[in-house]
Amino acid sequence: MTSQDLTFIHLTDTHLYAVPTPGGFKSPDPQRTAQAVIQHINAQPFKFEFVLHTGDVVNDPTDPVRYAEAAALLATLRAPVHTIPGNHDQRDWLRAQFYPHSLTTYHQFEAGGVQFACLDTSVPNKPYGEVGAAQLAWLENICTGGGDQPLVVAMHHHPFKTGSEGMDGLVTLDGLAVHEVLRKAGARLKGVFFGHLHEHVILIRDGITYLSAPSTWFQLLAWPGQTGGFVMDERALPGYNIVTVGADGRLTVRAISVEVGA
Ligand SMILES: [Fe+2]
Ligand SMILES: [Fe+2]
Repeated sequence: MTSQDLTFIHLTDTHLYAVPTPGGFKSPDPQRTAQAVIQHINAQPFKFEFVLHTGDVVNDPTDPVRYAEAAALLATLRAPVHTIPGNHDQRDWLRAQFYPHSLTTYHQFEAGGVQFACLDTSVPNKPYGEVGAAQLAWLENICTGGGDQPLVVAMHHHPFKTGSEGMDGLVTLDGLAVHEVLRKAGARLKGVFFGHLHEHVILIRDGITYLSAPSTWFQLLAWPGQTGGFVMDERALPGYNIVTVGADGRLTVRAISVEVGA
């Protein structure tokens, strides 16, 4: 239990500096949509402790300077940013920019009495996710310790298949092993926040809640039993989640959509 409610913002998949490929998705300018989302967040009338960015911060960078630029853009948020790598990130460059104190690309921090375990599901040059044995052992240590301190977990990829073929090929390969480890945390695990799907999705399995936020860039359209590749959802808006870990043990999540001006 904590003595006060803790509120943070969950945003994801900024894909900064992405250049749409000819014939590819007719996607908007990722800096412009990210700025619109940042402006919307900053105008909220309440205090939030930090912003959790669940990866795909930069889109396939070829130079580490992109992370300094991304950090400068994200520093316009009125609270500190914590992030993890996505499949489009270069994870060592991201770590060096955002959490250089950590020797690993997975890491943890504490805020308002809540423990945050930030996984690195990225696999260099692969679109799917994997956590691996070393990180799983690290996570198990967290999940089996910690007394009754509330725990929140962040990861980029979805932990298991959602029933839509396009993105299910890009799942966390050992996500069910991650899930079994997370079950050991019991009631102190409040929620698992992820990105990658570019849409709001809630997954609940064995009492564990996994939630994604929409991308700040473009959204995907998926449906139950969907086959084939990705479909872009041109009607869906970018957005973010407002998350509160309550002192009474609850989790409250508000899904916010952001209109980006012409
Ligand atoms: Fe993404
Ligand atoms: Fe991704």
